[in-house]
This record gives sequence, C-alpha cells and structure tokens, in this order.
Amino acid sequence: MLRQLLLYLSSAGWSRKIVTHWGGARRVARRFVAGETLDEAIDTARSLNQKGLLVTLNYLGENVVRAEETADVVAAYQTLVQQIHSHQLRASVSVKPSQLGLDIGEELCLTNLRQILAAAQQHQVPVTIDMEGSNHTEATLRLYRTLRDEGFDNAGTVIQAYLYRSEDDMRQLAAEGAHIRLCKGAYLEPPEIAFPAKADVDANYVRLARLYLTESTRAYLCLATHDEQMIQAAQAIIREHQIAPERYEYQMLLGVRTDRQAELAAAGYKMRVYVPYGEAWYPYFMRRLAERPANVLFFLRALFGG
Ligand code: FDA
Repeated sequence: MLRQLLLYLSSAGWSRKIVTHWGGARRVARRFVAGETLDEAIDTARSLNQKGLLVTLNYLGENVVRAEETADVVAAYQTLVQQIHSHQLRASVSVKPSQLGLDIGEELCLTNLRQILAAAQQHQVPVTIDMEGSNHTEATLRLYRTLRDEGFDNAGTVIQAYLYRSEDDMRQLAAEGAHIRLCKGAYLEPPEIAFPAKADVDANYVRLARLYLTESTRAYLCLATHDEQMIQAAQAIIREHQIAPERYEYQMLLGVRTDRQAELAAAGYKMRVYVPYGEAWYPYFMRRLAERPANVLFFLRALFGG
C-alpha cells in the first residue's frame, strides 16, 4: 500500500514540486545520491574505488520530452566517460532510455545511445542500459540487441524479476551471452504482467539467477540486490555449480547496506555500487523510499529534526 503510494508520487509532478522545494529533502536525498555535480560524483566514485568497490555512475534524469534536452544528456555522458578515463576510475555508466528520448521516439534514443556507447567504447567503459517501466521493456531490449549487434561489446541491460515475461527473456539472453543486471524491479506494475507478491518476486529472482548462471557458460550476470536471502541463494548456486568469478558480480545502490558492500568486497567478490548524481533526483529518491518503510521513517525524522 505504502509502496504503491510512494511509486505513484514518484511520477506525480505536484509532489515533485513540493518535495524538491522542501529544504531538508535535498539533504536527506544525499544519502542515496552522490551530489548534484559531476565533481561530487567523481569524488564519491574515487573514494569507493579506494575501498575496493567498483562503481557504476548514473546521471539522473528520466522521461525527457524535448529532443534538444537529450543532446545535453548525451554530452553529459560523453564528459562523464572522459572523466572516468582521466581519473582512471574502475567505473561503468548506467543510462536510462527515457532520459535519452525513448518517449519521443525509438530512433532518437538509438542515435543518442550509439553516441554514448561509442565514446565509452573508446575508453573501455562498460554501459548498462537501465530498465524502466514495462511500457519500455520491449523497446529497451531491442535497443540493447541492435547496439550489441552493431559491435558495441561494452553494452549490457537489465531484467526485472517481477515481470512474468522475464524467464523467457533471460533464457534468450543467456543463449546470446548477454551482460545482464538482474534486479527485482522498482516500478508500479499491474498484476496482469508482474508478480504482485514479494515472495513470488523473490522466488523468481532466484530461479532467474540460477537459469542465467547455469544455462550459459559465457553470459555475465550482475546480481543487483540488497536482500540477504537473494545473496545467500546466489552464493549457493555459485558454489554448487562452481561458477567462475569472471561470470558474475554483486551490485548495490549508494547508501544502502554499505557495511555489506564492504564485507563482500573484502571477501574477494566483485562488488559494484550504483552512484547516481545530478539535479533530477526526485523520482529516484522516491523509489528508494518505496523499497523500504524504514527509509520513510528516516526521511520524516530528518525532515522534522527528530
Ligand atoms: P527488497 O527491496 O525486497 O529488500 C529486501 C531486503 O533487503 C530487505 O528486507 C532488507 O533485509 C534488505 N534491505 C533493503 N534495503 C535495505 C537497507 N536500506 N538497509 C538494510 N537492509 C536493506 N530497478 C529497475 O526496475 N531497473 C533498474 O535498472 C534497476 N537498477 C538497479 C541497479 C542496482 C545496482 C540495484 C541494487 C538496484 C536496481 N534496481 C533497478 C532496483 C531494484 O529493482 C529494487 O527495487 C531494489 O534493489 C530493491 O530490491 P532488493 O533486491 O534490494 O530487495
């Protein structure tokens, strides 16, 4: 119920105006966001690298409706990959198709993604195409496959365990040897296309991880979750099938289970932290609140100084 409300608010313009003008909200969002500037993002990435953690940097923004604006986003990512290169960061980037014009037209988004991938490929920076709401699933997978087939071997994308369709997608992507991030899914989806119950999403997450790790010998899996049960289940599959370390990594979000991130890295696992930055932090922040009621309490306490 609370999750649904917060996910609804994450895309409501009136709520964005209220929350982003609320003095304390920006301060609280900083737990999950590196800052509003590229310099802050680079500083955060550097300090995570120094702790043995890999990073994926995301320039915040989504659902862009003006084509001109998408050119600025491409430029921001081109600068970002140059900075990753010049600071010698162990970092990839994560991009959202709707920030690159997918709501305007697939061709525009493809052109924009191609420019980012080309700049990134020059500096051997991997690029993950994030997965958004289910109205974009089909197009996002098509964009990924088109670009990969054009020779962008630095491209990867995301599968959400809450969607019924994901098992078929994973099976196909495993056969293609794709670079896939597996997450539970962060958007509001109807029961006709997504498991409504958390237990079913969790069970599907484990099923998909097993499928992906065991049905292909070359596909790469990023296990994106903070859920200890998912991590333990993945480790059991990895042990049972002796999956090589080159085949997978763990991923978590900035500001979530920081201790566990350090622990996994110290134990020798590849552990990548998703580091978002930029001014458009509102929808990202609201999705983080939706994931965990304790985050809402943290938000309210910080806002009201309790
Ligand atoms: P879930 O939210 O079910 O939490 C399970 C358990 O994890 C909790 O009960 C608790 O034990 C633990 N936990 C969670 N938060 C905690 C906290 N703050 N402190 C302590 N314990 C905590 N989604 C999407 O739709 N498209 C995408 O492209 C991406 N990309 C992405 C990248 C990365 C790196 C991550 C980690 C996640 C995404 N997501 C995403 C978000 C994802 O779909 C999902 O919404 C969140 O990761 C939350 O799901 P969990 O698997 O963490 O479990």
